[in-house]
Amino acid sequence: MRMRHKPWALPYLKAHPQVVFEPQEKPLQLSDHSSSLILEIGSGKGRYVSTLAQRFPQHHYIALEKDINVSATALKAAGDTLPKNLTWIVGSAGDLERYFEPGVLDEIHLNFSDPWPKKGHEKRRLTSRTFMPMMLNVLKPQGVIRFKTDNASLFEYTMLQMQTYPLELLEFNVQYTHDGSIDVHTEYEQKFNALNQPIYRAIWRKKP
Ligand SMILES: C[S@@+](CC[C@H](N)C(=O)[O-])C[C@H]1O[C@@H](n2cnc3c(N)ncnc32)[C@H](O)[C@@H]1O
Repeated sequence: MRMRHKPWALPYLKAHPQVVFEPQEKPLQLSDHSSSLILEIGSGKGRYVSTLAQRFPQHHYIALEKDINVSATALKAAGDTLPKNLTWIVGSAGDLERYFEPGVLDEIHLNFSDPWPKKGHEKRRLTSRTFMPMMLNVLKPQGVIRFKTDNASLFEYTMLQMQTYPLELLEFNVQYTHDGSIDVHTEYEQKFNALNQPIYRAIWRKKP
């Protein structure tokens, strides 16, 4: 998701108490050990993660979004305030291990990640070898990765990539629709649903 530069975005985000900007010297301490920690990477305008945070106050959600302008728009759309159990990180998946200690996350959600279709751009895909070892490192044993996309090639690529890691496939769906009670439409998902395009989804669990 690319957006026009917003001069107000940087000062606005830096002043926001629920926004983390740089990796700190020490990884974040977000869990009180009673709630699950659930991370969405590439949260865009934040509809998905904000809605889940409101629906499940017993969990702590984290949005990781690298684009400053998109992040600022997400916070504005939320009326300047995020649910108490949501932390917004303006940062890149490449810094995952600087934000999180090993084995702290219960779930990682990847929704409509940028497909980077050119072969030369493969390493930018979130499910490539660039990011997957880091994701597996910060995920708990038995932690879960949830993946949704409209892009058949990225889905196929991801299914093959995931086979090379200690992951158990829990769900595979090439015509995914959901009942709304345990899943939420993202902004991209709404668009693709309106166009009647299939949504692909898979879920894996990290082997202990
Ligand atoms: C295609 S958009 C999808 C947004 C949202 N998940 C949705 O489904 O509506 C992908 C988002 O991922 C973000 N993104 C891409 N690569 C990223 C990375 N390495 N780290 C953090 N965010 C990333 C982009 O800035 C963009 O906002």
